[in-house]
Amino acid sequence: MTQELARTRTDQPVPRTTNWWRDAVIYQVYVRSFADGDGDGIGDLPGARARLPHLAELGVDAVWLTPFYGSPQADGGYDVADYRVVDPLFGNLADAQALVYEAHRLGLRVIVDIVPNHTSDQHAWFRAALAGGEERARYHFRPGRGAEGELPPNDWESVFGGPAWTRTADGDWYLHLFAAEQPDLNWEHPAVHKEFESILRFWLDLGVDGFRIDVAHGMIKADGMPDIGRREQAKMIGAQVLPFFDQDGVHEIHRSWRRLLDSYDGERIGVAEAWAPSAERLALYVRPDELHQAFNFQFLTCAWDASAMRQVIDSSLAATTSVGATTTWVLSNHDVVRHTTRYGGGEQGLRRARAAALLTLALPGSAYVYQGEELGLPEVDLPDSVRQDPAFFRGDGQEGLRDGCRVPLPWSGDSAPYGFGRGGSWLPQPDGWKALSVAAQSGEPGSTLELYRSAITLRKQLTGLGDGEMEWLESPVGTLVFRRSGVVCTLNALADAVELPTPGRLALSSVELTPAADVVRLPAESCAWWTV
Ligand code: GLC
Ligand code: MG
Repeated sequence: MTQELARTRTDQPVPRTTNWWRDAVIYQVYVRSFADGDGDGIGDLPGARARLPHLAELGVDAVWLTPFYGSPQADGGYDVADYRVVDPLFGNLADAQALVYEAHRLGLRVIVDIVPNHTSDQHAWFRAALAGGEERARYHFRPGRGAEGELPPNDWESVFGGPAWTRTADGDWYLHLFAAEQPDLNWEHPAVHKEFESILRFWLDLGVDGFRIDVAHGMIKADGMPDIGRREQAKMIGAQVLPFFDQDGVHEIHRSWRRLLDSYDGERIGVAEAWAPSAERLALYVRPDELHQAFNFQFLTCAWDASAMRQVIDSSLAATTSVGATTTWVLSNHDVVRHTTRYGGGEQGLRRARAAALLTLALPGSAYVYQGEELGLPEVDLPDSVRQDPAFFRGDGQEGLRDGCRVPLPWSGDSAPYGFGRGGSWLPQPDGWKALSVAAQSGEPGSTLELYRSAITLRKQLTGLGDGEMEWLESPVGTLVFRRSGVVCTLNALADAVELPTPGRLALSSVELTPAADVVRLPAESCAWWTV
């Protein structure tokens, strides 16, 4: 029976599954803000499952779900108390299983988040550690400095602001690179390795297709935990190697996880959230025996400037190609200001964001789409009274607050919660999101949603996009023009129109465009695809 099926299948154009991650488009679902199934105002797994057809229609290959595990939610679920259960906020294990099943039925793979750098302070291990148990060695406890041990063991700062150490009742301090509710695990301890292998197996056995590895650059700390000697360390993240980030030792962990992933069928993958100081250091995470993808944050943080973008593209491609991997492009996620707003906001921000989407989807490699960017959602300016980001509650961590990119999605209807659920929404949605909803944009020519749908579909149909080579073509300053096999992509990053020789037949454009036979006026801040 199976053989018969296989024989008929070879006559058909089968979807390419080998190395699927090399050019996959993966949609990030921030679970608590995607869709609410039970009406409590918080997105959940049944809600997400019911909305999977939106993703299938968008044409993406996979979905990444942010953490939905047992958690006191001190950091939106990135503080995990129990890695093998679903938090009742989000459903239960049967809901997780049903979601994976339904996604697979729709041809979507499912990637889940794994948080190995730290646990919740409510995790059984940390509670036992505080009570003086042997579990203490699985975290980083140290005596303080100063005559009475009243000063933290070193000068490290939390990413969310304030010292990276908190003192416990017995006088020792413990390390937390994030909130105090997120104690860092000691990855020199064998029990930690063993436990995470078992957790990975648990979810792989349940059927997930891979993991997004949270803080993949953080698990190993430099020997002796040396002082940094500088304040404002959060600003140094991604700019240089720190004694707590991007230490070489993390790669051994990723190697062992790759072996584990490879021991399963179906090409399960790992994607690194690693803030590395250079394209070359980032590429180390995607060496052939390590992870499959690593988010390209240098692209994400790049200014709207053609030559700067070209530089990032070139250095990224050179670095990943040198290790045989592809680049993973990303413009937004749940930790950064939405790119429509980053690019200037308003009509200009949206115009640039739409162009950036076409640029990104034309580049060689894989791409992530953060929920709501396909609707052109802007960052929401929220009052302090509703903020939940732990950074807001920590001393000097007031910059880069992350609630404004996490406002629940508008699906339909004239007023909040815009079809998000039957109840309200955990963060308030702005008035005026009616026109941005999925329902309002569906079938609307020129809408951002239809642009994304066309782009992702075309990317599959035009054989030259996705994995493969690219070649820059000469073009005026402020523009980028490159050729893939059979496709040319033109980006005009300038605030004025620019004339170019018509590169081919227009396939898709981020703005309305009417090319003449020989010359085309590329409108300001626009991107187009041409078949050649
Ligand atoms: C990652 C997550 C972020 C979280 C942090 C700590 O950066 O993306 O949301 O706060 O790790 O787990
Ligand atoms: Mg709910």
